[in-house]
Amino acid sequence: MGVTALLAQLQPIGRAASGGYRRFAWTDVDLALREWFASTASAAGLSVTTDRGGNQWAWWGDPDASGPGVVTGSHLDSVPDGGAFDGPLGVASAFAAVDVLRAEQFVPSRPIGVVNFADEEGARFGVACAGSRLLTGALTAERALALTDPDGVSLADALARAGRSARVLGRDASALGRIGVFLELHIEQGRGLIELAAPVGIATGIWPHGRWRVELPGEANHAGTTRLADRRDPMVSYARLVLAARASAIRHGALATCGKVRVEPNGVNAIPSQVTGWLDARGPATDAVRQLVAELTELASSEGGTVAEESWTAAVSFDTALSDRLADLLGGVPRLATGAGHDAGVLAASGIPAAMLFVRNPTGVSHSPTEFAEPADCEAGVTALVAALRELAR
Ligand code: HGY
Ligand code: MN
Ligand code: MN
Repeated sequence: MGVTALLAQLQPIGRAASGGYRRFAWTDVDLALREWFASTASAAGLSVTTDRGGNQWAWWGDPDASGPGVVTGSHLDSVPDGGAFDGPLGVASAFAAVDVLRAEQFVPSRPIGVVNFADEEGARFGVACAGSRLLTGALTAERALALTDPDGVSLADALARAGRSARVLGRDASALGRIGVFLELHIEQGRGLIELAAPVGIATGIWPHGRWRVELPGEANHAGTTRLADRRDPMVSYARLVLAARASAIRHGALATCGKVRVEPNGVNAIPSQVTGWLDARGPATDAVRQLVAELTELASSEGGTVAEESWTAAVSFDTALSDRLADLLGGVPRLATGAGHDAGVLAASGIPAAMLFVRNPTGVSHSPTEFAEPADCEAGVTALVAALRELAR
């Protein structure tokens, strides 16, 4: 089945009123996506397994018998009101590429795997690339099981509700050992390929990036009877911090985003007792990102608050030899870095040879209901992936 038809099958799953998607880890929507993955794999004659991180694997051939394989794929979960392509394009393209290879009677000399990494966005439990980080051991089972969602549901309870035992959670050496090389296809989340006038590109690396939780305490009081001079209003502190984050990002040539905030008690006529905000900071230079966070930590402290790191991803450089081989194979497609995190980056950081293919995003917009990729560019991505798999598994 082609990539457009496969994406069309996914379209109704987890659709939100915004027109975007709410596909959060270990919810019923996620289970429907996982069921789609398993049935699509079975229809393609692939054997399906799930590893200790909750990641799904579909194999053409047996990596336990024939040795580590060539793996491609991505994730199916989304950010709140995310787009239809961030993640699913990589998984659908992987299945489409396998279909092309099988239709041409290709006989791989090593197993070929398709993967659906669990909880890449961390939208529910807060840690990005949770599935691949569990797989590689970058996220311990202990820390993962202690994570809770905004409703206070622990990951352990969510797994139990999804029929998975929390006891199996953790690093999975067997699953890791089955990956000889990993190639992730992903919609580009930026304007690079527009400016390069190319439908497909190769990633050079991923910027360092992280997430921090900002806690700002205040003093609950009445909006109508508390003099301004008597207030300890954490919302004012948070506003100062958001503006300082932007100023610091400009100063340091970095990016800072404050996209999520929780206010207690969240009443129109009550001065908040507490504001909790999350900072997403990234940039080409690690020290610039660290400096930005240090400045905001100092500001939060002066407001009586704290800034705590929730996840950090060091700069990733993808495997040069592998990327060179792909570039030669694909006729010199352009190469570009990204500020977006990916499971391929987690695998690369764990020492697995990894590379990424980007498919042009005609608007550059992502993490939005308007995210889009032209069918012709999606097909170009599959063609590139087929060539890459044929080369790597021949
Ligand atoms: O946040 C990211 O860069 C990715 O979408 N998880
Ligand atoms: Mn994303
Ligand atoms: Mn993604």
